Amino acid sequence: DQRCNAELPGRGLKITLTAGPTQEPLDPVRYLSNHSSGKMGFALAQAAAELGAKVHLIAGPVQLSTPPGVQRVDVVTAQEMLESCQQLQAQTDIFIACAAVADYRVESIADQKIKKQPGQQEMLLKLVENPDILATLATSQSSRPFCVGFAAETQAVEDYARRKLEKKNLDAIIANDVSDTRIGFGSDHNQVTFIYREKGEFYQEALPLASKIDLSRQLLLKIFKLYSKQDL
Ligand code: CTP
Ligand code: CA
Repeated sequence: DQRCNAELPGRGLKITLTAGPTQEPLDPVRYLSNHSSGKMGFALAQAAAELGAKVHLIAGPVQLSTPPGVQRVDVVTAQEMLESCQQLQAQTDIFIACAAVADYRVESIADQKIKKQPGQQEMLLKLVENPDILATLATSQSSRPFCVGFAAETQAVEDYARRKLEKKNLDAIIANDVSDTRIGFGSDHNQVTFIYREKGEFYQEALPLASKIDLSRQLLLKIFKLYSKQDL
């Protein structure tokens, strides 16, 4: 009922999330990508909608169904993902970047299928850097949303994550040790550390191993609290 709804902690908040991998085409039949399943981003989108927020989910190519109440936009490349995020930027209070964006794309996509050349035992691909979607939104001069990133690391996890938080001008970052075999690619569980900045100081909170949906609820409550404090 309405009174119950009014008490949801995400009510009135507009949240945009990115999730999944991006695919960067080489030619009409091939692409560069990664093993991101999109599960963490979809779980966060589901939890955010359940907590009463208005949610847009910008999804790379994944095999997942859209959570109830979530507005989904499907994209393929990093450049398309950036464009969709920028279109929503002015109506975004909180931006959460979960996508495993390809850091590079091929310089020029071949119009036709690239043919194997007889006798050619090596092939060089020239790659160019993709835009950093999260850093672009977090450093924008107007309508900058509250920005939360993810940092998937295999070593010095908290240290690298804190550096990313500073470098990309984020409000918070969720650090994730991807060398941990309990929580590999495509897992339904995750273990993360929530790192944030408040009045110039860093704080970090390690959360226990949990299902991605449980973890999402816990993370969103922390994010909402931090967001509402910053708004004062
Ligand atoms: N990210 C993004 N756009 C990119 C690259 C990353 O929005 N082109 C976002 C990711 O969604 C994530 C955060 O930035 O929230 C950190 O991504 P990560 O790949 O860990 O960091 P990079 O800055 O790309 O550094 P590296 O891959 O070298 O560790
Ligand atoms: Ca990267």
